[in-house]
Amino acid sequence: MAEQQDDKIRLLIVDDIAETRENIRKLLQFEPDIVVVGSASSGEEAIKQSIELQPDVVLMDISMPDMDGITATELIIKEVPFAQIVILSIQNDADYMRRAMRAGAREFLAKPPSGDDLISTIRLVAQRAKEQREKLVIQPLAIAVPQPGEPGYKGPSKPLGKLLAVYSPKGGVGCTMLATNIAIGLSSEETPTVLVDGNLQFGDVAVFMNLQVKNSIVDLASRVDELDEDIVGEVLMKHDSGLYVLAAPPRPEMADEIQASQVRTVLRFLRMHFAYIVVDNSSTMDDITLAVLDMADLLMAVATTDIPSIKDARLLFDLLNVLEFPKENIMFVLNKTDRRSGITSEAVAENLRQVVEGEIPLDDRTVATTVNRGEPLLLGDKSRPIARNMLDLLATVKQRLIAEELSSEKIVEKERSRVFGR
Ligand SMILES: Nc1ncnc2c1ncn2[C@@H]1O[C@H](COP(=O)(O)OP(=O)(O)OP(=O)(O)O)[C@@H](O)[C@H]1O
Ligand SMILES: [Mg+2]
Repeated sequence: MAEQQDDKIRLLIVDDIAETRENIRKLLQFEPDIVVVGSASSGEEAIKQSIELQPDVVLMDISMPDMDGITATELIIKEVPFAQIVILSIQNDADYMRRAMRAGAREFLAKPPSGDDLISTIRLVAQRAKEQREKLVIQPLAIAVPQPGEPGYKGPSKPLGKLLAVYSPKGGVGCTMLATNIAIGLSSEETPTVLVDGNLQFGDVAVFMNLQVKNSIVDLASRVDELDEDIVGEVLMKHDSGLYVLAAPPRPEMADEIQASQVRTVLRFLRMHFAYIVVDNSSTMDDITLAVLDMADLLMAVATTDIPSIKDARLLFDLLNVLEFPKENIMFVLNKTDRRSGITSEAVAENLRQVVEGEIPLDDRTVATTVNRGEPLLLGDKSRPIARNMLDLLATVKQRLIAEELSSEKIVEKERSRVFGR
């Protein structure tokens, strides 16, 4: 790409009527920051050109002879995740808009658009495209394990990375919020860390981290027999903070393709390359969750201070007991604690006979802002009480994981006997 075009907004116009394409081109011809890189007259052509031309913004007509604009939108985003699609439509139907949004469209413009509307909308969404483009620059896995004779080689007994599983039998208690923050806190140059979205159907780790998913765990599951640093490096995303992320599949039905044994293999591979692996799990106790728990060095069991959550936590502890999960590997954390709830953490601890090792207060405003912006708490203002609690929790997690490492230092690969999972 020519140097001076790097900052320009790359636009693709898609419409089956040549006159419409030409009119739009004319409206934009004097804008110094917008360059029309292509125009397509059908859905199929639009997809082909998007892959080839990598536009920041695609102006998309709705009805075309071969496919509708929604299908084309969906397919383009799959191929060019940073591309921002603006739908041009005569219809103003709410249902249609909803479907288009779900397919990944960013904005709508009534047809024919005014020059001002068109230009300001393109500029607005292009900003987002630029940010996402930057995030998508794939960094190779620079975590080569030192070989014999190389500096840093620790001998065959180099401990494997420690796996922290975050789990609650009840949904919505804050597992993802905790997993993202703890993973960010654990990640450093000396301790490379990967956050794995184990909620394969409805995982939202990427949303919490404001990352656009291009590749996901599906792409590794299907290639478990040939995993190497190049393949894994291509699939992992690197967040600005330095944390690596292995995202959940972009669509829930894709989770069906993934088997527990494949998840195990992927996690085993990650343990050889990262100091810490944090897995955010779905609340369903299925084969996948069991496989993760089976490999976990530390299980962060999360609950909130309300009766249904406490009841489910009790069932979980009973189940873990039956499964002979080592009690010392459980770390019980209460989230959304609130003095006004009338249930203290001491009461919960006593009731469940389980020490509460971390407490994060309810703070709707702060958490909602960080989640909606995709900027985890520990990357923002750390003076707030909730951030201080998170730092305390992080310190406890580190202590527990380091203690675990010391106790298993001589073991090359610790395989807990298969008491559960397959
Ligand atoms: N300490 C907190 N204070 C206020 N709101 C919180 C707190 N922790 C989490 N939340 C909010 O609770 C909701 C659920 O959080 P989160 O998605 O992390 O839970 P989860 O256990 O991962 O849920 P799911 O089972 O659906 O994956 C989110 O809207 C989040 O913003
Ligand atoms: Mg979650």
